[in-house]
Amino acid sequence: MEQPFYVTTPIYYVNARPHLGHAYTTITADVISRYHRMRTDTTWFLTGTDEHGDKIVRAAQQEGLSPRAYVDRISALFRELWPELNIANNQFIRTTDKAHMELVQQILQRIYDNGDIYFSEYEGLYCFGCERFYTERELVEGRCPDHETTPETIKESNYFFKMSKYQQWLIDHIQTNADFIRPERYRNEVLAFLREPLEDLCISRPKSRLQWGISLPFDGEYVTYVWFDALLNYVSALGYPDGEAFKTYWPVAQHIVAKDILKPHGIYWPIMLKAAGIPLYQHLNVHGYWNVDESKMSKSLGNVIEPLKLKNVYGLDAFRFFLMRDMVFGLDSSFSEEGLVNRINADLANDLGNLFSRVVTMVHKYFKGEIPALDSAAEAEFASLDLKGKVMETIAAYSGHMEVFAFHKALLEIWDLIGHLNKYIDLTTPWVLAKSKATNEQLRVVLYNLLEGLRIISGLIYPVMPDTAKTMQRHLGQDPEAAFFKLDTLKSWKGLLPGIQLPKTITLFPRVELQRTAPAAVQSTSGLTPALKEEITIDTFAKIDLRVGTITKAETIPRAKKLLQLTVEMGGETRTIVSGIAGSYAPDDLIGKQVVIVANLKPAKLMGVLSKGMLLAASDSDGLSIICLDTPMASGTPVS
Ligand code: MSP
Repeated sequence: MEQPFYVTTPIYYVNARPHLGHAYTTITADVISRYHRMRTDTTWFLTGTDEHGDKIVRAAQQEGLSPRAYVDRISALFRELWPELNIANNQFIRTTDKAHMELVQQILQRIYDNGDIYFSEYEGLYCFGCERFYTERELVEGRCPDHETTPETIKESNYFFKMSKYQQWLIDHIQTNADFIRPERYRNEVLAFLREPLEDLCISRPKSRLQWGISLPFDGEYVTYVWFDALLNYVSALGYPDGEAFKTYWPVAQHIVAKDILKPHGIYWPIMLKAAGIPLYQHLNVHGYWNVDESKMSKSLGNVIEPLKLKNVYGLDAFRFFLMRDMVFGLDSSFSEEGLVNRINADLANDLGNLFSRVVTMVHKYFKGEIPALDSAAEAEFASLDLKGKVMETIAAYSGHMEVFAFHKALLEIWDLIGHLNKYIDLTTPWVLAKSKATNEQLRVVLYNLLEGLRIISGLIYPVMPDTAKTMQRHLGQDPEAAFFKLDTLKSWKGLLPGIQLPKTITLFPRVELQRTAPAAVQSTSGLTPALKEEITIDTFAKIDLRVGTITKAETIPRAKKLLQLTVEMGGETRTIVSGIAGSYAPDDLIGKQVVIVANLKPAKLMGVLSKGMLLAASDSDGLSIICLDTPMASGTPVS
């Protein structure tokens, strides 16, 4: 039955050009909405750009442009990219749209009138990159966990949103709605965060510091915090409160975001909705991060991947397929051009492409390219191979995975069917059947069934590879523009009409060679990654007092997931050192280890504990490895 379906991507900041990460989320939204269109659901797909705030003003200044001119330019880059990637969004919203800005003011006024916004003086640690205040416990070794910069202390009078008031309500909601936030690991992350008291959210910025934003309707001296503005796009786009689109789509809203913005979507947003008297969204679907060759993708490493370059070299459908096949939705994944090339050659050129041309070539060879008619007696002979049963199982399993965003599993089901069809060819040996007139009817059945299998495959790949699906359809003698990509049509076996003439076969996916379009991580002159730091003299190095320390005690620190509190013997003295190694070491594993300590580092307070010194460790995207001594030494021995 036809049902509404509404999917959104984050609205992207316009301080950077679109890259692989943005493309992944938006292609995911496109895939899921195409799937829902195949179910004949009435589907609405929203994306857009987030254009207010400090970050944008600074980016505009760097380009020597006014914020307005700057946001127009970058927003257009996003809007124009999506059709190039075959993304069929229904709407593109900008937070600078008049209707959106008016709605934000309306909601702010409503929440203010209800008494959930109050004015207060606040002194706090502010990260300009994140445009938000941090509490000490949220910092990692005194630094912003995202930007790794030390936040500045800022004192301001501001407006606050009473989030704390809704904490228990939100916990209850998440607990009673198991798939409100999914996959489960992110639901658990939000619940873990909610175990600590929730602080009220500062939702204003004085105009003396920032003008590029939406004015508070109840105090013209302030603009609203960029997240309070941005999150409301999901309802303003639908014409809340009276729009028909809002009434149809909001009850089934599904957001897609990456893990970086779990907290605003999993905590601020439901509470904002509750405070404004708007029903909650249905699902928050959270995916992991794309790294590049095992490193974080960043401008400074010079390894930002541009989707259009990959499309131009390897083809759009191959690129879309790779993204959906290689990332397990919810987990991180590492992009490498080698990985992309291997995937194309193995799964697309070999498996799918070969099967397709093999079957169509046989139809041309044995039946002059005409879809063969079936003979029921001959059909019965192959009943034990039950191709129809396999196909129906595949469609059911595929649908189950698509519903819950398990795209890689849905694709695995299709590839399992491709393998099955290849086996079917091996078992039925059409080239042997072709040798005798007596087995001509059997040959018809085999080739018809194979074509029918390909028809179903062309439908199942449609959400991920719409162009290839259409090419396959055309070469199976079907009209690709007709309403053919429907799950129900796929489910009706024997959908192909005998007698239709097929065009000559084609190579769906030529084999590709590695082109190195995507920059690898920046190479320093020494060839090291990341690039070598500036050269220092031995005198500079000698200023660092490194000592052998023996760990005698290790404890976790409440509320600090990444930190351990260590007691370290250093010969003449015992030190307390707080170290960010909890992700890689259990406290008990550390006792007795002899490590290298930076002993003359200025002490710093971390999570309320004074840390005197730092442990040396190597780190990569998999975790940390502390530097330990090879043979025992006296604690306190200098290291040089
Ligand atoms: N403007 C906010 C979102 C407001 S939504 C009301 C924002 N913008 S952003 O430009 O930084 O986009 C973040 C999103 O881009 C991520 O949540 C994810 O969807 C996508 N990605 C950006 N980098 C990514 C990776 N490296 N990997 C996967 N997705 C990533 O946050």
